Amino acid sequence: MRRVITYGTYDLLHWGHIRLLKRAKELGDYLIVGLSTDAFNEGKGKSAYHPYEERKAMLESIRYVDLVIPEESWEQKRKDIVTYQADVFVMGDDWKGSFDDLSDLCEVIYLPRTDGISTTKIKDDLERIGKHY
Ligand code: CTP
Repeated sequence: MRRVITYGTYDLLHWGHIRLLKRAKELGDYLIVGLSTDAFNEGKGKSAYHPYEERKAMLESIRYVDLVIPEESWEQKRKDIVTYQADVFVMGDDWKGSFDDLSDLCEVIYLPRTDGISTTKIKDDLERIGKHY
């Protein structure tokens, strides 16, 4: 059994997220997603539209996702990789190089992001539409 782990906020779930999760799952047999908690996001100065439990429920309903765990700190990744026996750590290539230090524990892979979509873009576009009404 090859286990894959990835992290993110996954707010306003979109096509770029689905493509990332599909390709992440194809790297192994079991996909674990470390999902940023609301408190962790707050610490980063971010606030998600959907609270943690809603984001978690949506991720759990995706066929590629086997397990969702809370991401509460930057430092927990090493511990999670050991606890969940991850063979592969994967992130979109906006993080390219950022997690290379984990390669003593498992394989580290950065997948190309999907062009033209992000949670930030959806929020900006909605705000722009809102201003016209
Ligand atoms: N991702 C991707 N393609 C996109 C957007 C996100 O492959 N167009 C990937 C990211 O690289 C990450 C995962 O999806 O591995 C979760 O990303 P997240 O930061 O939650 O989503 P974003 O849409 O990038 O959110 P934001 O705009 O707030 O940064």
